[in-house]
Amino acid sequence: MLNLIITETALEQVPKNIHSHQTVVKHAARLGKKPGNTLLDRSYHHAAMIKLDYHEKRGRPDIAHRALLSALGTPLNRENLLRVFMHTVKEKVIYVNPRTRLPRSYSRFVGLIEQLLIEKEVPRKEPLLLRVEKKDLKTLINELKSQYIVALTRVGKPKTVEKIAESLVKHEDAVVIVGGFPQGRFSQHIIKAATDAFSIDRETLDTSVVISRIIYEYERVLGLPEKRLRENQKDI
Ligand SMILES: C[S@@+](CC[C@H](N)C(=O)[O-])C[C@H]1O[C@@H](n2cnc3c(N)ncnc32)[C@H](O)[C@@H]1O
Repeated sequence: MLNLIITETALEQVPKNIHSHQTVVKHAARLGKKPGNTLLDRSYHHAAMIKLDYHEKRGRPDIAHRALLSALGTPLNRENLLRVFMHTVKEKVIYVNPRTRLPRSYSRFVGLIEQLLIEKEVPRKEPLLLRVEKKDLKTLINELKSQYIVALTRVGKPKTVEKIAESLVKHEDAVVIVGGFPQGRFSQHIIKAATDAFSIDRETLDTSVVISRIIYEYERVLGLPEKRLRENQKDI
């Protein structure tokens, strides 16, 4: 089983101190929602965001959308061998049911997350697909009780994704941490929480690319592609 934590994800409701900013009021009115019930999004709120602390790390729900689609659509997830947790910049953790079929459309994804942050669980009827709790990363990591936690960061020790996957597979319930923010580095406490920090390329890659690669190499080490193709032959 591989646990994937997408951390410090740039996903949050518009914070109170910019509720009355013109760009926020306009966007919320267009959606017919209160500002505090909408997601902070740099595409709409850029002018208002400049006032916010560490604003360069915030307001990019599209990264969360692409990251979740990349993880949930994989054979590893379909085999029930992946658990995905989304830790946000506001110290919340979204628990993702592996059976979740996320909306492909970005605006529908935003609507779903807005509902989740208000109601704490979606959908209203079973099966529960997404649940959110106020929780910091350290508490989440302690819950997972893993002996091996890898943080992926461009400033880590250089190592190929294949070699990282080989180490992850050796540990039951290993954890891999990938940033869900647009730019900058992990906060120091995240590196401290990890057993190892590795770089997989000389450049900073998109979160969704990093996730796809680590999951694919993990599948390859497990022999999952061959196994699934063999099973396919039996079905024919
Ligand atoms: C800083 S964010 C950048 C996101 C990007 N702007 C996007 O739209 O997806 C990407 C995350 O992917 C991982 N990552 C990116 N490049 C990497 C590299 N060369 N080696 C290891 N991890 C990397 C890190 O966890 C990093 O926090």
